[in-house]
Amino acid sequence: MRLISKAHRSHEKSRTIVTTMDNVKTVLEQSFKCVRVPPAKHVPNLEEDARNGLLSQPRSLPPKYFYDDHGSKLFEKICQTSEYYPTRTEDLILKQHAQDIIQSTLPSKIFELGSGSSTKTRHLLDACSETAHFPSYTAFDISESALLSGGTTLSTYYDWLEIDLLLGDYEAGFKNIPNYNESKLVLFLGSTIGNFEKPHAIGFLSDLRANMSARDRLLVGFDRVKDRQILNAAYNDKGGITAAFNLNVLNVLNNQLGANFDSNKFRHSAGYHMEKEQVEMHLISICAQQVKFDTLGTSIEIASGERIRTEISRKFTAKSVVDLLGAGGFTVERDFASANGYFSLVLAQPI
Ligand code: AVJ
Repeated sequence: MRLISKAHRSHEKSRTIVTTMDNVKTVLEQSFKCVRVPPAKHVPNLEEDARNGLLSQPRSLPPKYFYDDHGSKLFEKICQTSEYYPTRTEDLILKQHAQDIIQSTLPSKIFELGSGSSTKTRHLLDACSETAHFPSYTAFDISESALLSGGTTLSTYYDWLEIDLLLGDYEAGFKNIPNYNESKLVLFLGSTIGNFEKPHAIGFLSDLRANMSARDRLLVGFDRVKDRQILNAAYNDKGGITAAFNLNVLNVLNNQLGANFDSNKFRHSAGYHMEKEQVEMHLISICAQQVKFDTLGTSIEIASGERIRTEISRKFTAKSVVDLLGAGGFTVERDFASANGYFSLVLAQPI
């Protein structure tokens, strides 16, 4: 009931401004303008990453370039395969523990890093509705279209929700994010942290910590170490969607660097390395070939069987989660693991 009265109050506020349909449209558009966050530090662009990673051996490319429009669609399809358990497992954990998380943190703002379409966030917002706790929401993402569509969708479900959209790259640091003077629950879901090498993850967490206050909390998704067959299957789905996702990065290079990769001359490879506790994904050249990059003004010779590493996806134990968060300036307050132990959502507190 309190929810309804609060919703009505905010509606009354806007009614005093809005009189015609044209104005309604203007108000809606204004409330969904993305605010650009200037980078606090230099982030290499594709050209620099390609020069550093592709022109000499061992060849590699950061995984963030997977996500052009087509790649983002392929990733969503991966999440729907029977083999790829992380997304649906994290979603279930969030759904089961959302009320607990909200009640034990009572945030006045939910702040989501890499929010994408904000789909999983809805479990937390549902819990807010159910418990009549009404925080505001800030989504921070690199994709303007994802921010706008996510924001619009959320606004139709939660009429009490104040939404801010921040457009920027979380790799570029957190110093330039508005300093909200309220208690935040910061979300970093999807086990994206597993894509970072350990020192990079520690740097990321430390920078985040430096821009949080002691009463804020961090909720991070971690994919866990498990049976290698399950991990290998998750990155080698039978439908070949992960393979298409991996190979699509060659089209990104063709489009953005004037390269001439032929994706038929590479094959997808992904496997779990037990000693490193990480899945590594590669593209393997199936013949000797030359590839040119117009934008870089150069070309490379790739031998048959040579590999380009396109992603690492680190897997964690309860202990490595505690250690990593500790190195980044956080202590673990709660570890919400799925019943099968495949994934966990960790609530952490700044030290
Ligand atoms: C989005 C980074 C969590 O590492 O599992 C899925 C990306 N790569 N299949 C992951 C991915 C291949 C995914 N993350």
